[in-house]
Amino acid sequence: MSGGAAGLDARIRPVRDSDWPGIAALETAAYAGSSLTEGRAALESKGRASPDTCFVLDIDGHVAGYLLSLPYPMFRYPALARSDDPLHDSRNLHLHDIVVAQEQRGRGWGGGLLARLTAAARPRFEHISLVAVDGLASFWAAHGYRAHSRVRLPESYGDNAVYMSIAVPGSGTSPSKEVTRFPCPVS
Ligand SMILES: CC(C)(COP(=O)(O)OP(=O)(O)OC[C@H]1O[C@@H](n2cnc3c(N)ncnc32)[C@H](O)[C@@H]1OP(=O)(O)O)[C@@H](O)C(=O)NCCC(=O)NCCS
Repeated sequence: MSGGAAGLDARIRPVRDSDWPGIAALETAAYAGSSLTEGRAALESKGRASPDTCFVLDIDGHVAGYLLSLPYPMFRYPALARSDDPLHDSRNLHLHDIVVAQEQRGRGWGGGLLARLTAAARPRFEHISLVAVDGLASFWAAHGYRAHSRVRLPESYGDNAVYMSIAVPGSGTSPSKEVTRFPCPVS
């Protein structure tokens, strides 16, 4: 089945309590054997921090993907596997994790989840940040994210991790203004 605009919209919805076992299973499958696996409690804490910026891809009643994002100060990032991170009041929205089930990849679902994220971010946030892991920086660059290679990341994010951000399209913050506002990444 292909994504398609109408299909994407219908299948991407807010997270329900009953989704967390499915989310944790997808996470384990996506990052098996790496230090990126956090487990259900840590994932759920990120979802609780910002329910209106977290989504699942629901295909025929099964959680086939998810996206978790939460307000977090620019150039900082949540600790992996931690379930007691403090809440932050920030105009930066951090995309903490996105996973699409292996058998559903390459059909536009990832892009659909990102489109939903952008729509949710637009009224309240100026920027979206993320840590690109596992060599995915080119995937994010294709979606308009730019790398901040001076931002140091802990080993737990893996060897090729890169901090990246984008000005929320339509928020009134231009990419050039972003450079002015954040001239000095932490290093
Ligand atoms: C990243 C992910 C969410 C994308 O989901 P998806 O549903 O396949 O995304 P889409 O179908 O919208 O887009 C697929 C595109 O991404 C590209 N892509 C996938 N993996 C990539 C990679 N490692 N590097 C560069 N591009 C990549 C595909 O080539 C495809 O490009 P095309 O549209 O030009 O053909 C999915 O691959 C995934 O769950 N990966 C494992 C978890 C993960 O690494 N998450 C990101 C953490 S930063």
